[in-house]
Amino acid sequence: MIDLHCHMLPGIDDGASNLAVAVEMARLAAENGVETQACTPHILPGLYHNSGPQIRAATESLQKRLDEEGVPLRLVVGADAHLAPDMPEKIRSGTIPTLADSRYLLVEPPHHVAPPRLDDAFFRILVAGHVPILTHPERLDWIESHYPAIVRLFEAGVWMQVTAGSLLGAFGRRPLYWAERMLSEGRVHILATDAHGVGRRRPALAQGRDAAARRLGAEEARRLVYDRPAAVIADHPPNRVPAPGFDSRGAYGSMTAAQSREGRGRRSEGVVHGGETRSFRALERRNGGGARSLLDRLRALFSE
Ligand SMILES: [Fe+2]
Repeated sequence: MIDLHCHMLPGIDDGASNLAVAVEMARLAAENGVETQACTPHILPGLYHNSGPQIRAATESLQKRLDEEGVPLRLVVGADAHLAPDMPEKIRSGTIPTLADSRYLLVEPPHHVAPPRLDDAFFRILVAGHVPILTHPERLDWIESHYPAIVRLFEAGVWMQVTAGSLLGAFGRRPLYWAERMLSEGRVHILATDAHGVGRRRPALAQGRDAAARRLGAEEARRLVYDRPAAVIADHPPNRVPAPGFDSRGAYGSMTAAQSREGRGRRSEGVVHGGETRSFRALERRNGGGARSLLDRLRALFSE
């Protein structure tokens, strides 16, 4: 399996507190069946001042230690970057590292309050040519009041990452409900641990995969923890990656993202194209271009 979200680098956020914990987390991940692990510390201005070069150095240093200790885990860089309007610039400058230097990156919205201009912030990242992966939507306090906004982002091409532990009830009943609901609706691209230590939030991707398999079938469960994460690391364009969905119904799981998007086209046209939402018009104004040209750029991104 490949885990794209984990706070394993020692001493730089609220994850592993020291090197011994980091090595133990890596050992647990490997024992759990993870072969490749993205190290994704928080980047949150004012709290966690991590940046690309420093994360890269810390990842290389931990990899060296794991090799010495014989822990069979391959590390790649990444970050759990807090949503901010200047993300495209920070990605371009290398301050925010993408996952394994691909076009994909983890983006964490605020937990407690829905941010203003949520759509704009994500569209700016998409238009800049990146694929944002929204982390743990099921655990956001505001998902209940803003679920249509989450769906809009999904339809626009934002990927969704659910936490393995949410499917096991580790975060309580509401995250469990939303994790299962989003899975059942075919709106989850990736399952990841978001592990923070060796206690309650230890790496447990296999258990999450098995819970997903009971709901969606073994094939789609494998896509959640292997095929799509592998496509991310290989930087495959999203339209070449199987879209989320069920095995058993063969509805979405066997289709490519492009085919699925075509099937759902009317809805997404309503959001971005025909609807010309307020946020999209605002984006248009700020960029000085027509909504049509922005839409074309989004389309080009997904038809590469
Ligand atoms: Fe995280």
